[in-house]
Amino acid sequence: MSPPVPRPPQHLPYYEDVSPGRGCRPPRAWYARSDARRMSLHGTWRFRLSPTARGADTAFARPDFDDADWAGLRVPGHWVLMGHGAPAYTNTRYPFPVDPPRLPDENPTGDHRHTFDLPSDWEPGPALLRFEGVESCARVWLNGRELGHFKGSRLPHEFEVGHLLRARRNVLAVRVHQWSAGSYLEDQDQWWLPGVFRDVTLHHRPPGAVLDHFVHASYDHRTGLGTLRVDCAPAGRVSVPALGLDLATGESATVPVTPWTAETPHLYDAELRTPGERVPLRVGFRTVRVEDGLLKVNGRRVLFRGVNRHEFDPRYGRSLGPEAMRRDLLLMKRHNVNAVRTSHYPPHPAFLGLCDELGLWVVEECDLETHGFGQQGWRDNPVDDAAWTPALLDRVRRMVERDKNHPSVIMWSLGNECGTGRGLSAMAAWTRDRDPSRPLHYEGDPACADTDVYSRMYADHAEVARIGRREEEPLADPVADARRRALPFLLCEYAHAMGNGPGGLSEYQRLFETYERCQGGFVWEWIDHGLRQHTAYGEVFHAYGGDFGEELHDGNFVCDGLVFPDRTPSPGLTELKKVVEPVRIGGTGTGTRTGTGTGTGTKPGAGDGHAAPATVRITNLHDFAGLTHLAFRWSYEAEGEVLAEGPLDVPPLAPGAHTEVALPPEPAGRRGREALWTVRALLAGDTAWAEAGHEVAWGQLPAAPAAPGPAVPRPPSVRAAPRRGEGNLVLLGPGAFDATTGVLRYLDGVQLTGPRLDVWRAPTDNDEGAPWQPGPRPAEQWRRIGLHRMRHRVASVEHGRDALVVRTRVAPAGSGLALDTDYRWSADGGRLRLEVSVRPYGEWPCPLPRLGVRMGLCGSLMTARWYGGGPGEAYPDTRAAARTGLWRMPVDALQTPYVRPQENGARAGVRWVELARSDGSGVRAEGEPAFWFTARRWTSEQLDAARHTTDLTPGDRVWLHLDHAQHGIGSRSCGPGVLPPYELTVAPARFAVILHSLR
Ligand code: GAL
Repeated sequence: MSPPVPRPPQHLPYYEDVSPGRGCRPPRAWYARSDARRMSLHGTWRFRLSPTARGADTAFARPDFDDADWAGLRVPGHWVLMGHGAPAYTNTRYPFPVDPPRLPDENPTGDHRHTFDLPSDWEPGPALLRFEGVESCARVWLNGRELGHFKGSRLPHEFEVGHLLRARRNVLAVRVHQWSAGSYLEDQDQWWLPGVFRDVTLHHRPPGAVLDHFVHASYDHRTGLGTLRVDCAPAGRVSVPALGLDLATGESATVPVTPWTAETPHLYDAELRTPGERVPLRVGFRTVRVEDGLLKVNGRRVLFRGVNRHEFDPRYGRSLGPEAMRRDLLLMKRHNVNAVRTSHYPPHPAFLGLCDELGLWVVEECDLETHGFGQQGWRDNPVDDAAWTPALLDRVRRMVERDKNHPSVIMWSLGNECGTGRGLSAMAAWTRDRDPSRPLHYEGDPACADTDVYSRMYADHAEVARIGRREEEPLADPVADARRRALPFLLCEYAHAMGNGPGGLSEYQRLFETYERCQGGFVWEWIDHGLRQHTAYGEVFHAYGGDFGEELHDGNFVCDGLVFPDRTPSPGLTELKKVVEPVRIGGTGTGTRTGTGTGTGTKPGAGDGHAAPATVRITNLHDFAGLTHLAFRWSYEAEGEVLAEGPLDVPPLAPGAHTEVALPPEPAGRRGREALWTVRALLAGDTAWAEAGHEVAWGQLPAAPAAPGPAVPRPPSVRAAPRRGEGNLVLLGPGAFDATTGVLRYLDGVQLTGPRLDVWRAPTDNDEGAPWQPGPRPAEQWRRIGLHRMRHRVASVEHGRDALVVRTRVAPAGSGLALDTDYRWSADGGRLRLEVSVRPYGEWPCPLPRLGVRMGLCGSLMTARWYGGGPGEAYPDTRAAARTGLWRMPVDALQTPYVRPQENGARAGVRWVELARSDGSGVRAEGEPAFWFTARRWTSEQLDAARHTTDLTPGDRVWLHLDHAQHGIGSRSCGPGVLPPYELTVAPARFAVILHSLR
C-alpha cells in the first residue's frame, strides 16, 4: 500500500476541526444539590432537521426568528428516536468514510430553539448554562449571542451566561451536528444517537460560590483512621457533624471513621460552605492501592463481580431518567453484582451518586474509542496524532473533574479500544498528576505502559489460569514484561451475554477464587440495546442493526446484555447471581451440591431415613463484610414437597472464612422419595437495595439415601404385547402406532406427532459464534453437514413378544454421516416406555446441538409441571442457578424472549414433567435417567427462521423435546466456545422415557 499523501492544510469548519471546542468554562466537580438556584430547561423545544451541516445559515439563532413551522421536540432526547431521521448501529466500523477529521456532506444537523423566562425570584448575577451531554457537536447561542461550540458527547460543558440573561423571553439556540471530528473519538459499539440527550440546566452562581472542590477522604486500615481534606476555590469550611469535624478547606483532619466499601457503603453527611454557597456532601473514606501485585481497597484484595454498563433505554436511547438508573443499580445489587465499568464513557453524573449510596465499585471510563482505525492497522489513529491530544486531554479532564469526589469511583479508565499512542500517555500523565489516589485502567495496550492493572477482554479460561499463575506469554521487552507480570489482573470484559448464555461463568469464578492475581471481571454487558418498535399490527418487538435500513450495520450484536431491553432479567443474570454469590452454601457429609443434579439422588421406593445429621459448609466470600446482615434458613423437601423448615444458626464468620453447620435431624414424611436440603441466606433486615427476606445465596444437598421401609405402591407391571389394530395401527398398552413407520400416533386415544429423534436446535448467538475467534463456528458446521434437515428412514418395524422395535437411520441429505437409531417401545399398565439407542455412523466432525426426541402434542396443553431443575432455563454450562424442585408454569412462560429468537427454554435435570389442560388431562413423561425438557408452540425450524420475537406465531401443537443431552452454550459470540466437558460429542447413547396420559 502506498503511504498516505499529506494533504495541504485547509480551513475546516468547527465541527470538523480536531479541537474540543471554544468558549466553555473549565470543568469542575458535579454535585447534585446546593443552596444556589438551578433551573432545568427540559421540555418541548422547537426543532428543525437539515440533511447537511454545509452552508446552514445561523439566522435561526436570532431571538426574533420565526420558528412557528418547526416541529416540537422533547429535550433531553435523541431526535432519531422521535421521528426525525433514523438510528444506526455499527460495532467497530465508522458509518462514514475514514477520512479524519473530515465528514461526509450528509451530516444530519438539528437546530433547536427554546424560549424561557426566569423565575421571578431569580437573582441577577453570574450564571452558567450547563449541558450534561450532546451528541456529537453543539454550537450554542443565547439571546442572539454566540457562546461557543463543543464536542465530547458524554461529557459536561458549561458556558458563562449571567450577563446575557433577561427576566423574560430568553432564547436559547443550539445547533447539533450528528457527525463531527469528535465522532472519530466515539466509535463505541452502540447505536449512533444524535441529540441533546442529557439535562440542560441554568445554574445561578452567587458571588463567592464554589468554583470547584476536591474531596480527599482516605482510610488507613491499620489504624482505623480516616483523613479528610477538602480543597476548594474559593476557600471555605467543611463540617462533618457525625465526626465532630469543622475544618477550613485545605486543612486536613485524621479521625476514627467507618470506611466506605461497596459492601458497606458508609457515607458521612457533610457540608461545604463558601462565602456564596452551601453544598451538601456525602463523604466516603477509602484508599485504593496497587501493592504486592494486587489491587487493594482499604488494605484488602477486592474481587470484582462486575458488569459493563452502557446507558440504554429501549424508548429513549441514552437519555435515561433517574428511575432507569436506580432500577439498574437495584437489579445489580439484587443479583450480587458489586462492580460496574461505565463502558465506554462517563455515565449521567447522578448514576455515580447512586453507586456511592448503594455500594458498587466503579471503573469509570472516558468517552474515547477509535476502534474503526484498527481496520487500517491503526493508521491515522487520533490517539497517536499530536494534533488530537488537546481533544483527548479535554475529555479525560472533563471526566475526572466532574466525578473526582465519588468514593465509588476507584479507577479511571482512559478509554476503550483506541490502540496506543502519545495521546493516551498524555491523558495518563495528566490524570496521575491531578488524582494520584486512583489507579489507571486501559485494556488496549498489551504493554500496560500507562496503566496500573493488567486488563484483558475475552481471554479464555486456560489463559486466565496462566495469567493467574503469572505464567502468561512474555512480552518482547523484558522490562515491560516484568512490570506487567507484577500487576493485578482483571477481565474488563468477559462472558459475552449475547442471546442464550453466557456459558462458562462458574469456571471463570473458580479461577478468580483460585488465583489471587485474578481479581474478577466485568461481564459484557448489562443491557440489550434493542429499540422498542411496533409491527403493522401493533405488536411490540425490539429492533437491532439493519432494522432501520442502515447501509452498514452489525445486526443483533448490539443485543448482548444480561437484562432484556425492558430491563427484565435474562436467565444469564440469574446464573450470574448464583455464580458470584458472596456466600457459598455447600454440604459436606452427604456430599456437596449446588445447582441441580442430573437425576442423581435417591431412588423412590424406600421409606423414611434416619441418618445422622448432615452438615452444611458455609463460606463467607465477601471481601469486607461478615454475615450478620444475613439470616439463614433450611428446608427439607421430598420430591419438591417441603416437609419441614426452620432457621439455621450460623456463627459469625470473617470474610474468607468457612464453617460447618449441623443440619437438624431428618424430618419424617419422606416416604421413600428423593429428598434434599435447601439452605438459603436471606437479608435479615431491609437495605437500601432490597427488603428483608431477599435471597442472597442458596445451596442444595442431597439428603442421605433413604433407608429401606414400606414400599411405595406402584402400578402392576404387566407387560403388554403389541397387537394389530384397525386402520394400519399397531396397539401396545396406551399407544397406537403406525404399522408402516412405527411412529406413535395416539396415546390413550389422543393424537400426537412423533416422538422421533431430534438433534437440531435453533442456533444461539454463541453457536453462531464470532468470526474472529479461533476454531470452527458450531452453527456453521452444523448447517454444513445438514443437522437442520435430517431425514428419517425406517429400516424395520419389529413386533416382539413384549415390545415394538423400530429400527431407523437418521441422516442428512448429501452426506454419509448417520445416526442409527432404534426405538424400543414397551408398555406397563397404562404406561408406555420408549428406549432409544443411537449409534453414530461415520466420522463426525463436530458435536451435536442436542440429542433427544421431539413430539408434537395437542395445543390445548396449557401448563407444565415438573420435578427437576428450575424455575428458569438451563444448559450444561449455564445450570448453576437451576435448583431442584417442583415447578409449575404456563407453557407460554417457558420460552425466553431473546431479542433475536434462538434456542431457549430447556429445563435441566428433570425427573418428570406433566403437560396438562385446564381440566387436568394431559401427558406425563418420566426420565430414565433425568432429561432436559423444552416445550414451545413452534418448531425449532420456525424458531431458527425468526428474526424478531414477533415472527413467531403459536401453531396448533405444543412441541415437547425430551433431551438426553444438550451441547453447552459457551460465549463464542465474542469469547471462548464451549468448554470440553460441556461438548455434546457424538457417541453411542441409550436413554429411556416413560409416557402416559393424565386424566
Ligand atoms: C468489545 C468492546 C465492546 C463490545 C464487545 C462485544 O471488544 O469493547 O464495546 O463491542 O467487544 O460486544
